[in-house]
Amino acid sequence: MNNHQEIIIECRDLCKRYTEGSLDVDVLKGINLEINKGDKIAIVGSSGSGKSTLLHLLGSLDLPSSGRVSIMGKDISELNDAKRGLLRNESLGFIYQFHHLLPEFTALENVAMPLLIGKYNVKEATELAIAMLDKVGLSQRIDHKPGQLSGGERQRAAIARALVTHPKAVLADEPTGNLDHKTANRIFDLMQELNTEMGTAFVVVTHDLELAKKMDKSYLLIDGELKEDLI
Ligand SMILES: Nc1ncnc2c1ncn2[C@@H]1O[C@H](COP(=O)(O)OP(=O)(O)O)[C@@H](O)[C@H]1O
Ligand SMILES: [Mg+2]
Repeated sequence: MNNHQEIIIECRDLCKRYTEGSLDVDVLKGINLEINKGDKIAIVGSSGSGKSTLLHLLGSLDLPSSGRVSIMGKDISELNDAKRGLLRNESLGFIYQFHHLLPEFTALENVAMPLLIGKYNVKEATELAIAMLDKVGLSQRIDHKPGQLSGGERQRAAIARALVTHPKAVLADEPTGNLDHKTANRIFDLMQELNTEMGTAFVVVTHDLELAKKMDKSYLLIDGELKEDLI
């Protein structure tokens, strides 16, 4: 954490209701949360408690039923899809439990992709992608396709892809869920390093209480509400 508080993501009275036929399910019931530059936040909760729903809303991948989410001071509900996509691409990185790498592209191409979608040319994007793959320890694997990488290597490639744009905040949904202990620790060390070097904020949804305890702050999501430091 740091002294100059720069709010990256803020949510106020955030509610999410899913309607299945005639049944309404209130998954989030008035969440208030502020993610500042450099914050490392863990969110834990049982399966189905709404962790992924919350992360999607914080990342503007979905919109609230009521309440608001702001990213870099902009209310996501007031932006059109294109503007929201741009804000997301510029400010945020996402890491999922399953890596979501594109199978027909190499590690290098996968990692360069968010830069090419943004405003970089191929040469710049390639250089930055190689540097980030080096950081995650994959410099010997840049021409490998996802199918030719181990599980841990794929996850590291996915992390390189999430971080290559130097996002203000990274939203990670069970980032170490499929990894062995050693690889999970390595991924955590990498997050730690980027947090220190670049002030990247991390919001990590996890079942891994050991990982949660390493963050600055942890919340339990229960009955649609966030409770601080209960783990
Ligand atoms: N798109 C959807 N439509 C209807 N219900 C959903 C949808 N997404 C999630 N849910 C429901 O919302 C609840 C929370 O889901 P989720 O956020 O995935 O929980 P978690 O990530 O904590 O396991 C679950 O009961 C789930 O079935
Ligand atoms: Mg989930």
